[in-house]
Amino acid sequence: MAGISRRELLGGAAKLSLVGGALAASGSLLSACTDAEAFDLDLVPWQGTHQAGITTPVQGQMVYGAFDLTTTNRDDLRTLLQQWTQAIALLTTGEAVGAVEPANEFEPPGDTGEAANSPVARLTVTVGFGRSLFVDGHAADRFGIGEQLPGALIEMPSFAGDVLDENRSDGDLSVQCCADDPQTAFHAFHTLARIARGTATVRWVQVGFARASTTDRTQGTPRNLMGFKDGTNNVLRDNEEDLKTYVWVPPGDGPNWMVNGSYVVTRRIRMQLEAWDRTSLREQQAVIGRTKGEGAPIGREREHDEVDLTKVASNSHIRLAAPASNANFRLLRRSYSFTDGVDPRTGQLDTGLFFIAYQRHPRRQFVPIQNQLAQHDALNKYIKHVASGVFAVPPGVESSGYLGETLLD
Ligand code: HEM
Repeated sequence: MAGISRRELLGGAAKLSLVGGALAASGSLLSACTDAEAFDLDLVPWQGTHQAGITTPVQGQMVYGAFDLTTTNRDDLRTLLQQWTQAIALLTTGEAVGAVEPANEFEPPGDTGEAANSPVARLTVTVGFGRSLFVDGHAADRFGIGEQLPGALIEMPSFAGDVLDENRSDGDLSVQCCADDPQTAFHAFHTLARIARGTATVRWVQVGFARASTTDRTQGTPRNLMGFKDGTNNVLRDNEEDLKTYVWVPPGDGPNWMVNGSYVVTRRIRMQLEAWDRTSLREQQAVIGRTKGEGAPIGREREHDEVDLTKVASNSHIRLAAPASNANFRLLRRSYSFTDGVDPRTGQLDTGLFFIAYQRHPRRQFVPIQNQLAQHDALNKYIKHVASGVFAVPPGVESSGYLGETLLD
């Protein structure tokens, strides 16, 4: 995507400092254009009923990470979320987060500067809260919000075959930065980490270099690293009924602060590509339940033809994951492919799928589906779940306020 640079977008006159005016300024920029025009400018509106980065079209690059708070002071947590919100307002509208060249050269730059000439590239930043924010490992209610813990923010059960690295799992706060430019996505994460210094430390980071899902039919279906189209049968952003049923938290479903929010489950899933690459086409297709080229369900012609579950093997991935096999429950998948070099223990590629799924209730949606897959999926011969996360993703910021305000105020 061509994109426009931050400077071209706003010009010098719109430059702002981080503190004060950030929310108002980005609001005025966006209020000057319709949603459609904002998308044309490579901007995804960051404000709204829901946070951006869930149903908004999936961008090409991702930096996802989690933070652990080093403070136990609720005001520090509130300040951090306010500063993050102000920074997100600036980052997603192409603004610097402070001066790259401060007047006083003895001060560090307010904005790190690495994205000064990068396009805004439809950047979205999506913030979530882990279970440990409400009750830590010693059952301590560090911030006096224990009573607000949603029942849906579950402790993830362990599944057959899990080999989870806890240092790469969970965390107090999660941040998902997606954009069509890798530097833009990294800059967003880097900026939030910089703001958090002294209040929170980075627990883990995962970079994703290619989308492996779609929330919008017009985007086309990408391929995962096993070479199959991924995201064909997903919950789509224009299907209001499905979003209401499967993604957004309605009033009365847990604590009020989560209304219009969602829950995200992340799984770092290693692919054993060396074994997969030696597997015949026939076997690969039987494992997934779709053809490799077209992505059609086995027994059908075209990608979007309806799946006939009687035609696909009983242990194929799509048969076990299908709504018909799971009390009609569905997930909104928004995953990315990753590659992190070589696993020194095996000499094999450390590569796979960073699975991301948004939903209304992980216990009713992700858990039963993953239970089936973990026990019976033919794909298990070629994959390994190595990290896991569950986060409550609060509602968006409508016109003023900050992310997490419904919980903390
Ligand atoms: C590396 C691991 C995985 C790979 C390579 C993979 C790949 C695929 C592929 C190629 C499809 C068919 C195209 C599509 O409809 O999107 C698919 C469908 C699906 N997958 Fe996965 N997947 C993985 C993990 C998971 C996990 C962990 C879950 C949930 C627990 C899951 C849930 C689903 C669902 C719900 C569908 C749609 C089924 C349908 O309604 O037809 N997948 N996956």
